[in-house]
Amino acid sequence: MKTALITGGGSGLGKELGKLLSGQGYHIFLLGRTEDRLKEAGTEIENMGGQVSFTTLDVRSAHDIHQFCKNHLSDLNVELLIHNAGVGYFGPFKESTDDELISMFETNTLGPIRLTKALLPQLEKGCTIINIISTAGLRGKKNESLYVASKFSLRGFGESLQKEYEGSNLRIVNAYMGGMDTPFWENSDHISDTSRLRSPKEVAETIVNEYRKKDEIVIESKK
Ligand SMILES: NC(=O)c1ccc[n+]([C@@H]2O[C@H](COP(=O)([O-])OP(=O)(O)OC[C@H]3O[C@@H](n4cnc5c(N)ncnc54)[C@H](OP(=O)(O)O)[C@@H]3O)[C@@H](O)[C@H]2O)c1
Repeated sequence: MKTALITGGGSGLGKELGKLLSGQGYHIFLLGRTEDRLKEAGTEIENMGGQVSFTTLDVRSAHDIHQFCKNHLSDLNVELLIHNAGVGYFGPFKESTDDELISMFETNTLGPIRLTKALLPQLEKGCTIINIISTAGLRGKKNESLYVASKFSLRGFGESLQKEYEGSNLRIVNAYMGGMDTPFWENSDHISDTSRLRSPKEVAETIVNEYRKKDEIVIESKK
């Protein structure tokens, strides 16, 4: 059975993508750091009649990625890999910390690059990679400099692979969305009213409707 592997699949956009894709006949494989979240998302998918697996994996950890490949890869037919796990720390550049810088680049940039490399022999047989970026990967934003930098990096990685794998069985889709009302903002006061943002379900629906046709999906913020 074809598998959709989703990082950060226990909440927000990743969970909604899992629910929608399970309805399209994918076996959903959720990855994330918090087992309880993955279990809860997995139960939601199962209750909808979907097939789901999950395992904890920290995309910042080369060890976790290696273990995942060793334990699971030979049993899976990964046709869709969604680099969705992400973190954001916001505020004036001069107040940013090195820990925040490292956390964002390791999660938002190095994680997807390392996971892609580790899975590449299988992905080259036929797969679509969807990079969940952000409109922060399209243009600079005030008080978002390091997050924007990490997302521009992921964009550059995706655009380069699009050229390198043109005409092959490996497709890369870069998706750029504006704000969504998800747990992403739980410990942040960067956005005062998250209820005015798009729902992750709405964004997931657009991505699932468009990823077969487009190499670039742009979903601007609600006005
Ligand atoms: N919300 C927005 O306004 C917005 C807008 C544009 C783009 N995005 C992007 O959309 C993606 C999904 O975010 P979301 O809004 O759905 O927020 P979310 O609910 O916080 O989802 C992020 C997921 O990533 C997981 N994660 C974080 N660090 C991880 C790590 N090191 N290894 C594995 N998993 C990790 C989290 O689970 P654990 O903590 O359990 O690992 C969580 O399930 C992110 O890439 C984000 O940058 C968000």
